[in-house]
Amino acid sequence: MKAYVTSNKDYTISRIDDRVYGAFLEHLGRAIYEGIYEPDHPTADKDGMRGDVVELVKKLNVPVVRYPGGNFVSAYNWEDGIGPADQRPVRLDLAWHTSESNKVGIHEFADWCTTVGTEMMLAVNLGSRGVDEARNFLEYVNHPGGSYWSDLRVKNGRKEPWNVKLWCLGNEMDGPWQVGHKTADEYGKLAANTARAMRMFDGSLELIVCGSSNADMPSYPDWERIVLEHTYDHVDYISLHMYFANRDDNTPNFLGLAEKLDTYIETVAATIKQVKAKRKSKRDVYICFDEWNVWYHSNKKDREILDGNGGWPHAPGLLEDIYNFEDVLMVGLILNTFIRRSDVVKIACIAQLVNVIAPIMTEKGGPAWAQTIYYPYYFASVFGRGTALDLKVNSPGYETPHAKDSPFVDVSGVVNEDGTLSFFLVNRHTSESIETELELQGFAAGSVIDHQVMTHPDLKAVNTAKDQQQVAPTKGDGATVANGKLSVTLPPYSYQMVRVKVA
Ligand code: AHR
Repeated sequence: MKAYVTSNKDYTISRIDDRVYGAFLEHLGRAIYEGIYEPDHPTADKDGMRGDVVELVKKLNVPVVRYPGGNFVSAYNWEDGIGPADQRPVRLDLAWHTSESNKVGIHEFADWCTTVGTEMMLAVNLGSRGVDEARNFLEYVNHPGGSYWSDLRVKNGRKEPWNVKLWCLGNEMDGPWQVGHKTADEYGKLAANTARAMRMFDGSLELIVCGSSNADMPSYPDWERIVLEHTYDHVDYISLHMYFANRDDNTPNFLGLAEKLDTYIETVAATIKQVKAKRKSKRDVYICFDEWNVWYHSNKKDREILDGNGGWPHAPGLLEDIYNFEDVLMVGLILNTFIRRSDVVKIACIAQLVNVIAPIMTEKGGPAWAQTIYYPYYFASVFGRGTALDLKVNSPGYETPHAKDSPFVDVSGVVNEDGTLSFFLVNRHTSESIETELELQGFAAGSVIDHQVMTHPDLKAVNTAKDQQQVAPTKGDGATVANGKLSVTLPPYSYQMVRVKVA
């Protein structure tokens, strides 16, 4: 089987916002406690942060981390997480039916972000609270001093403001599971008022309004339209969330969900345009895809705690999906979609980063390791920065519930800042290798400088604490550049990255 891809130096989609490779950490399960924070761990630093996790996160070069939720934020009092740690209150977290010790709050999280070299993206609580808490939190975080909240921050040990630019106006407010769930009208008004107040403090903030929790919500896509009609002039992004599941154990259909993702982005982008036109607005609103990942492996196991039968445990092992090889392909497809839609998707956050539906897993007192999905995220984040190429793909395809013709070969291409080309390729074919020829029109003659391959005879193979390298990339040696063409063979069900240095 063969596929042909054409790239042309002059045909580009957009500059990719680095923040499309962002991540998310919520006070949920063992994401914070035993994830990033474990004072008794042998690798813990003076602040109790796990050094082994820091190393794995640093390698990913994560540009931004969303915090502190998620559903958690909708009943969170950020003030509980400041001041002397031993005097902070233990609270019940209604979202995940757990107890929250508040040992980690904004100061600890901010310091950790500095350690791993990432920016904060903070969410305000528009579930149980509103404009008032948002303006106070903002003042605490961003005002230099000389006011009640900023002086309290200084007293609590942080002199300089953190100057956080990105702020989420609540989380998934369309979801009936959300504390303080609202109709689109109610939420739209509250979000607009909150945004106005926050902008009175600083007009240069980047504000994110909640879109639907997913594309299957009954209120989707009217939710987006109504919310944007209220907020269009006051926000910069609308959030999208989507989780992917292979519930029927049908891998071709699972991988076909990439087309559903594309349609979702397309629809919300069209809604943004509709509202822009209706409001005769000159400004643009973009998409912030601030929760995405595969999520279903842990669903059954989580039921007991989520139903309330497990009491109110502190940091239980919730949402601990153990990812397999086929999830590598799905994550590769998702990231390819974001690169191809970099004209509208400016920020995205893998949900989440550690232990909770995450590329990094830890054992209490034990090792931290990279799950299978760590690798496609790593390759895209590290080598997928620059400008997205507008590739023309001619590949045989197959029918899925979401598209008549999903190409077996899914590919994205990036011109990196130094002129190097990075291509990320997924072969969705069950059993056939696909010889792929990629024309490099307008680029000087070049050579392959890196070729990474992920393939595995067992789609369900996983990495564990004991066997951390069961699913890992290997160096490929079959990719060549000759006569202005990159040739590479894609084994069935495989993920690859090929990097070409052009002279
Ligand atoms: O990431 C896990 C949860 O998924 C988040 O808390 C919520 O926003 C979404 O439903």
